[in-house]
Amino acid sequence: MISKDGVSYRVEDRIAWVYFARPEKRNAMNPALNRRMAEVFDELEFRDDVGVLVLGGEGNAWSAGMDLKEYFRETEAQGLGGIRKSQRESYGWFRRLRWFQKPTIAMVNGWCFGGGFGPLFACDLAVAADDARFGLSEINWGILPGGGVTKVVVDLLPMRDAMWLTLTGDLIDGRQAAACRLVNESVPADRLEARVREIAELLLKKNPVALKYAKDAVRRVGNLTYDEAEDYLVRMQEAANFHDKSEGRKEGIRQFIDEKSYKPGLGSYDL
Ligand code: ACO
Repeated sequence: MISKDGVSYRVEDRIAWVYFARPEKRNAMNPALNRRMAEVFDELEFRDDVGVLVLGGEGNAWSAGMDLKEYFRETEAQGLGGIRKSQRESYGWFRRLRWFQKPTIAMVNGWCFGGGFGPLFACDLAVAADDARFGLSEINWGILPGGGVTKVVVDLLPMRDAMWLTLTGDLIDGRQAAACRLVNESVPADRLEARVREIAELLLKKNPVALKYAKDAVRRVGNLTYDEAEDYLVRMQEAANFHDKSEGRKEGIRQFIDEKSYKPGLGSYDL
């Protein structure tokens, strides 16, 4: 495990396990952590031995959101330049994670507050422990959920749920988060890592080029008209064909039609 400036990570069996690692501060995101996360992505994103990235939290928190002292108070004391710099650093790695080259899974082990919804949304899939706790605490200390957080809850949740969390600051647990689709599923805490590993292993069996184009497509088409989406998807498949040096699409057809070694309806072809 490599650990520095509030981020730790290790690579094992093609899975990059990255952790918020300031457990003594409930993994609140300060500028050093935000800068370090971007560096860790530089290190991991295009490595051949990394096929999936998991984002977890050390200790009993996933992330208690932005660090109210170091991210807000101390950068505000530096004036507008300081504020904009710390915003660029945090929004920068959230954006980078949304469009990460490999599929990503949020493994939400505990507290997830406010700004934590940024990386939560940025991960393609999310699994929570049943006893994880999610909340938009912004209203409790007198601000609106900024930094994209309101956009995240409106995109992920029905309006009544988004409004409830935003106005009340009420907490929901992992089970409730799964029920309202903030996360894909929740499992008992002692099963969390094993379940995430299972999902990661499933993804590792898929064509990696197809995964990247497919995950980007899910994020992109929501904002396009039908015709634009159709056009985008045709062109992206053609781009995927170009980037997939394994010619996976042809191989997938061959193993089904000629070799009869698998059924696409029931699982993936052999990479
Ligand atoms: N910013 C700065 N410091 C934090 C944060 C945070 N978001 N969250 C926790 N800490 C610090 C505490 O100040 C404390 O520091 P100290 O040991 O130096 O006193 C340490 O982490 C441990 O926190 P406790 O409050 O003692 O831990 P506890 O387990 O009792 O409570 C909880 C955990 C519920 C997460 C609580 O710390 C909390 O409410 N944190 C703030 C959550 C929040 O509102 N985040 C901001 C969301 S809005 C946004 O992100 C834009």
